[in-house]
Parts: sequence; C-alpha cells; structure tokens
Amino acid sequence: MDDLKNKYLTAILTAGDEATLEDIRLQAVGKKGEVALKMRELGKMTPEERQEMGPKLNALKDEINSALAAKKVALEDAALDARLAEEWLDVTLPSRARRQGTLHPISRVSEEIYAIFADLGFAVAEGPQIEDDWHNFDALNIAPHHPARQEHDTFYMHRAEGDDRPNHVLRTHTSPVQIRSMIDQGAPIRIIAPGRVYRSDYDQTHTPMFHQVEGMAIDKDISMANLKWVLEEFYTAFFGTKVKTRFRASHFPFTEPSAEVDVQCRWENGSVTVGEGDDWLEVLGSGMMHPNVLQAGGIDPKEWQGFAFGMGIDRLAMLKYGIPDLRAFFDSDLRWLRHYGFSPLGVPTLAGGIHG
Ligand code: DAH
Repeated sequence: MDDLKNKYLTAILTAGDEATLEDIRLQAVGKKGEVALKMRELGKMTPEERQEMGPKLNALKDEINSALAAKKVALEDAALDARLAEEWLDVTLPSRARRQGTLHPISRVSEEIYAIFADLGFAVAEGPQIEDDWHNFDALNIAPHHPARQEHDTFYMHRAEGDDRPNHVLRTHTSPVQIRSMIDQGAPIRIIAPGRVYRSDYDQTHTPMFHQVEGMAIDKDISMANLKWVLEEFYTAFFGTKVKTRFRASHFPFTEPSAEVDVQCRWENGSVTVGEGDDWLEVLGSGMMHPNVLQAGGIDPKEWQGFAFGMGIDRLAMLKYGIPDLRAFFDSDLRWLRHYGFSPLGVPTLAGGIHG
C-alpha cells in the first residue's frame, strides 16, 4: 500500500498538464484503477483483515483524490499566468496614425471660440436642448402671439390633451441660456453659451439642427461700444486678420437697441473670403439687453445693463475653412470627415495658435 501511495503521489506531483493528471486519476482511483482492484480483493479477505484493510484503502483513495485536486488548481493557475504573460499588451503605445479619427470642424471652431472668449474674461455656460417655452420665448420678451414664435419654425414636444404642465420645445436658439445664467449667477456676469439649436428647416444653407454661440455681459456701465470692441477682437483673432465690422440697426424682442453685424468680405468665383474686399456678410444679431429680459433673469434693470449677441457656429466654420455645403456637416461621410477634420491632438490656444 505504501508503494502504491508513493508511486501515485510522485506521479501527481510531477504531472506537467491536465491530460496527464487525468490519466493518473483513471489509473489510480478510476473504476478500473489500482485502488478499485485492491478494494475488490477485500471480498476474499477474512473479516479481521477486511476491517484493517478497508479503512486504509479508503484513506489512500482520499489522499490521492485530494492530491489530484490540489495539483489541478496549481496547473490551472500556471496556465492562467502563462496566458496573461502571453497576451500582454502595452496600452500606452500611441495609436496608428492611419486609424486616427478627426475632430469635426464644429468641435474645432467651438474650441477656438472658447479660447478667444476665455481670454476676454467670458466663462462657458450651458442649458438644456429641451427647453420650456418660458425660457425659450416669454422670458426673452417674446409674447405668446409675437411673430417671432412662428418665424422660428419651432419643434414643439407632444403633449397629451388636458395636460397643463409647461409646454416644451426643442430650443430654437441659445438665448434661453441668458435667462438661466442670470438666475443662477446674478450680476455682474460675462458668459458665452455654445450649443445645438433646432428649427424645422432644410435646404443647402439650413439644417433642422445647427449650432449657435450666445454671448452676454452685464455690469453697471456696459455699453454698445464694449460690444463692438469685443466682437472686433473676436473676429480678428478668429480669422487671423484685421476684420472690419458694420453694425446695422435691426430688431429683436430681447434687445433695445438691436443691431445686426456684418463682416467685411470678398466674393470671388462663388466663394467668400473674410477680412478683405468691399462686400459685407451678415454674421450675427446683437444689442443692449431689454429691461424685461434682465428682470426675467432676476436682475434689476435700474442698476445693471448688458449686451448680448448670438451667432451661428456652423456658418463661422464654413467661412473660415471654405466648406461649401452645410448639410455635409451632418452626413457623417468618412471621406468628408477625413478631408475637413482636424487632428484631435491640436488643441487651439491663443498662445499656441488657433488657426488650423
Ligand atoms: N437668438 C437670435 C436668433 O437665434 C440671435 C440673437 C440676436 C441673439 C440678438 C442675441 C441677440 O443675444 O442680442 O436668431
């Protein structure tokens, strides 16, 4: 019995893989294994012999089984270690250039806008894209039957008959962020609010979703002159060349007085260059904030005044990077994205340059 025990425990200890271990198991404690054969001999023994040999054989069987189980765990651990070593991967290696994605022109231009306005002391503010009609219209001095509500081709959210909770819309402009920022932060305040806006409109220069950036500065002595200086600083930094602006009297419900701003440009063979030439291109709406709007934001118009402006980001991207069709921005065509996209590692800063 000692021979049997030594033979199998040694074999188990030196087994190199799980298949060998299984062979040993069958030979030793399988149905037809050596221990089973010995057990069969018990029948031929005297009761005394059997009483001595029975428990010994059972103990041997147990010992071999637990050695098998221990070795099995050890082999499994070793196999896992070997696999981990084999499949090791250096995740800190840079990705291969030809597989690298690109930054969408809108993302790139948004980052350029943040960099320029950050330098002028403006923080970035945000608001929801699903907006209630108080923030989107009423608080901005757009009365319920004001034509601007129709002009905006608003997407209204469905509402069940008899539901008298506030109406929700997909925001038609970034101007409601003016209201949210005033309520959150009070005055004085200087913010820009970039983001998606929605209008039911679709042709070569309109898509149902597009991007705007809102600007707002409120203090005790803010004037139209500050607005003009800020916008000229912005366009000059953005286009990388001195850009003349032209202010035209206009009308918006949320500003008084209101102005539309044009930048100097030249048209040639159907394409446009900003910062030279004798033509003008409209790029934004602006004005001095209407007292009703300040009031809706919880700010006393007798004590504070401010300017606001709103412009289209997509339009700026088309102008700066010579992209002809707005609809292509949202087609997700890989060839377009590779052609007009930017390196994701090239973050624009005023110090490092903002020109792609
Ligand atoms: N919200 C206007 C629009 O979407 C743009 C605009 C005009 C924003 C004048 C302003 C502003 O802040 O003062 O057409």
